[in-house]
Amino acid sequence: MTPPSLLFVPLLFLLLIGGCFARPFYPLPSKLADSDRQPLQTTRPYNIAHRGASGEIPEETVAAFMRAIEEGADFLETDILSTKDGVLISFHDVTLDNTTNIANHTEFANRNRTYEVLGVNVTGFFVVDFTLKELKSLRVKQRLTFRDQQYNGEFSIITFEEYISVALDATRVVGIYPEIKNPVFINQHVKWADGKRFEDKFVDTLKKYGYKGSYMSEDWLKQPVFIQCSAPTSLLHISNQTDMPKIFLIDDVNVTTQDTKQSYSEITSDKYLKFIRNYVVGIGPWKDTIVPVENNYLMTATDLVARAHAHDLQVHPYTYRNENMYLHFNFHQDPYAEYDYWINKIGVDGLFTDFTGSFHKFLEWTYPISKNESSASEPLH
Ligand SMILES: *[C@@H]1O[C@H](CO)[C@@H](O)[C@H](O)[C@H]1NC(C)=O
Ligand SMILES: *[C@@H]1O[C@H](CO)[C@@H](O)[C@H](O)[C@H]1NC(C)=O
Ligand SMILES: *[C@@H]1O[C@H](CO)[C@@H](O)[C@H](O)[C@H]1NC(C)=O
Ligand SMILES: *[C@@H]1O[C@H](CO)[C@@H](O)[C@H](O)[C@H]1NC(C)=O
Ligand SMILES: *[C@@H]1O[C@H](CO)[C@@H](O)[C@H](O)[C@H]1NC(C)=O
Ligand SMILES: *[C@@H]1O[C@H](CO)[C@@H](O)[C@H](O)[C@H]1NC(C)=O
Ligand SMILES: *[C@@H]1O[C@H](CO)[C@@H](O)[C@H](O)[C@H]1NC(C)=O
Repeated sequence: MTPPSLLFVPLLFLLLIGGCFARPFYPLPSKLADSDRQPLQTTRPYNIAHRGASGEIPEETVAAFMRAIEEGADFLETDILSTKDGVLISFHDVTLDNTTNIANHTEFANRNRTYEVLGVNVTGFFVVDFTLKELKSLRVKQRLTFRDQQYNGEFSIITFEEYISVALDATRVVGIYPEIKNPVFINQHVKWADGKRFEDKFVDTLKKYGYKGSYMSEDWLKQPVFIQCSAPTSLLHISNQTDMPKIFLIDDVNVTTQDTKQSYSEITSDKYLKFIRNYVVGIGPWKDTIVPVENNYLMTATDLVARAHAHDLQVHPYTYRNENMYLHFNFHQDPYAEYDYWINKIGVDGLFTDFTGSFHKFLEWTYPISKNESSASEPLH
């Protein structure tokens, strides 16, 4: 029997040779040449990881985004807000109360305020009243009580730039899908010395990291990005600054736009879709407005997806979640049945999910591009 140490020597030698002449065995992700990266898939609906793998790990943290990459996300979705000192951060709520341990930081006890947000007075601890340094002293926690609490207190709030770095460091091409969140509120509360607006800072940050190019251009495929926003004036404002693809987010049927106060019926009309087609590549509606729900059962689907497609607009609805209480009865507690309905019956071009891993498995089983490139669904427009 050969002593294990002797077996080890040739193996070590091979490892050294390999290390010198081929790609390193454990390459640092950011050191990979572009050509070595698996490209973004563009033939089946996009798997958009809503706030990262937020079903498992506290939303919009490095860990949540890294898990989403492992699980097969095409795009990492996040919300962008600003700190008091004008640093853009990856964070959903304008308040810290529900997703951080701010309550335990007694040094900030007098920092609670009441501000009007989207027409409602909200009391809490607002991100716009904290510097980045102060926010970094907090830790995030799970928003929902029925989800895994084990990571509470582990992770920090991250900046827009840190979020971008996670995507750029992935060993395959992973897109980003950041939202210009609450622009009316942010521009009211945060001012930049150079006179620029929140939206300008947002676009500047993307450009600084090399994001550019229109949908499906060579530049875009290297660093894919969708910019999302629910404020029409913000989208128009940035459309003068970049041709990066933009998605117009659409809220519930009874909510008006935060800046222009337009109604749901107005912004989903053919006339309006025809207008926005000039500067956005798609819409991001709440799924229950595409197929209304009553008593937790689906009603007849509206024609919104067909009309958007007729205007050459993609449709990326939000938000798909595995848990029972989010699954309408028609899907008999099976998230795959929900994906099957939305992909194959309604025909959406991508969707926002809290459970990227589940959606990825569904897509691998139903549209296995890795095994047969040409059997995938119709190319996305
Ligand atoms: C705050 O501290 C209390 C007791 O020290 C602890 O039980 C609780 O989990 C903490 N809350 C957060 C959000 O960290
Ligand atoms: C902030 O908290 C303090 C102490 O609980 C309370 O007295 C005050 O009314 C709060 N301020 C606002 C704006 O809610
Ligand atoms: C919010 O509170 C302020 C001050 O109390 C009040 O003037 C304003 O009307 C309130 N706004 C809403 C939307 O309730
Ligand atoms: C915390 O979440 C609850 C439930 O969604 C919401 O009603 C409340 O306004 C949130 N609190 C703050 C301060 O944002
Ligand atoms: C975009 O640029 C055009 C031409 O420079 C200008 O007329 C228009 O007002 C700008 N629109 C916005 C929303 O900034
Ligand atoms: C919109 O309508 C839904 C369902 O009728 C209701 O639950 C929700 O609170 C309404 N939202 C607003 C902002 O009025
Ligand atoms: C691959 O897809 C093509 C086109 O849909 C089909 O004709 C072919 O049979 C598929 N091959 C396999 C092995 O599934």
